[in-house]
Amino acid sequence: MLTPEQIQANLEKFYAIIEKYISEPRATKLLALYQGQEDNLAFCPASSRTAYHNAFPGGYVDHVIRVVECAIKTTTLWSEMGATINFSMEELVFSALNHDLGKLGRDGKPAYIPNDSDWHVKNQGAVYKPNAELPFIPIQDASLFILQSEGIPMTFNEFVAIKTHDGLYDDGNKAYLLSSQNDSKLRCSLPLILHQADEMAARIEWEKVWIDKVGTPEKKEVKAATPTQFKQKAESAKLANVAKGNPALLNALKGL
Ligand SMILES: [Fe+2]
Ligand SMILES: [Fe+2]
Repeated sequence: MLTPEQIQANLEKFYAIIEKYISEPRATKLLALYQGQEDNLAFCPASSRTAYHNAFPGGYVDHVIRVVECAIKTTTLWSEMGATINFSMEELVFSALNHDLGKLGRDGKPAYIPNDSDWHVKNQGAVYKPNAELPFIPIQDASLFILQSEGIPMTFNEFVAIKTHDGLYDDGNKAYLLSSQNDSKLRCSLPLILHQADEMAARIEWEKVWIDKVGTPEKKEVKAATPTQFKQKAESAKLANVAKGNPALLNALKGL
């Protein structure tokens, strides 16, 4: 859960991201879109269930900011590892910033409303439920629909990144992501990076609340070790595995 001060600080950070990374005229249009529904933006959750992520007031903005930050760092990693970065910083941030826009709902109606069924809250952690006043549409499609409704244009890269941000969790993305032909493969890695950033952010958000509650035997071991000890242990386990299967590779690794 977030405090009112954290929710306010996140809102300011969210607007600052638009001002820093998005050029005109899109920046003004995005600010109008978001500031025109500031209460909804501030208190919207990022999901409906506690087992998903950030299912609490303020969860949406908190998640989106984390996805933007993860996307920027992920791009740096991909670049350092040799990937071609043939998209712009604005495309990266625009896609991350608006990927879940559909979760805000539309026409003045929120997409998620508090669940009035105690049974579902208690037994399924379904603290919110879809707002039945709105017809069904997948979140990513709603994000794209709202952007076009507001006259906010996007590049091809941004469209595909937002559309496919759930990666292969969504069967509809197979046409984009499972190509067997060079010509039909993604021509830039932005969609893969956004999916990775979204996955990372959502996992971190879940862990923040739940990892200590669910617990694992391995976790105790990890917690007891310093980061250096853990790294050494992981290294020796890796070397032992390699030694079993490939002594030549083991020697090569030792020489690094
Ligand atoms: Fe999403
Ligand atoms: Fe997301």
